[in-house]
Amino acid sequence: MPSVLDDDIEAVIVTADQIADKIVELAKVIDADYADREPLLVGVLKGAAMFMSDLALALERPSTMEFMAVSSYGSSTTSSGVVRILKDLDRDIAGQHVLIVEDIIDSGLTLSWLLRNLASRNPASIEIVALLRKPDAVKVNVPVKYIGFDIPNEFVVGYGLDYAERYRNLPYIGRLKPSVYSNP
Ligand code: IMP
Ligand code: MG
Repeated sequence: MPSVLDDDIEAVIVTADQIADKIVELAKVIDADYADREPLLVGVLKGAAMFMSDLALALERPSTMEFMAVSSYGSSTTSSGVVRILKDLDRDIAGQHVLIVEDIIDSGLTLSWLLRNLASRNPASIEIVALLRKPDAVKVNVPVKYIGFDIPNEFVVGYGLDYAERYRNLPYIGRLKPSVYSNP
């Protein structure tokens, strides 16, 4: 379905079909790894909304869902590592098998903070699944168990990811035309 948003995209980085195939692949591995445990999926709003939904639908074994919203202080295109909770979990996760569902790891600062925060609540286990990873993520040592795609170090939008809150509803991951940044 062509959308008016497509006109702002310079290049498609990951197609909708590639995303769908990868999620089926990840779900199979997660179903197998959690064969004797029920994962509690913790989706990080808003970016992981689409990935969380499609991943949860692809899992064949029982799982439950929670959402968290965090915001890093600092500019919109860099991450400072100082994180504020905008929306916390609705329940205690002690004894639960937490699987953090994230859209993208760039500096890794947000995720390393989140991992420490959730680990302090005494879950039985805690792992991370991220759809996308950028090269800088290796600098911060965040143990990410499941990765969808390694992508180049460029700003991307779509499938949950935004620029100024827009483009989240593109069905693929793409790079914006430079003109979009210069004409707000
Ligand atoms: P980090 O703390 O640098 O790893 O950044 C994590 C958060 O920044 C992600 O969860 C996204 O919300 C946002 N982010 C990082 N890279 C991009 C991008 O290329 N497009 C859109 N949002 C991004
Ligand atoms: Mg995010």
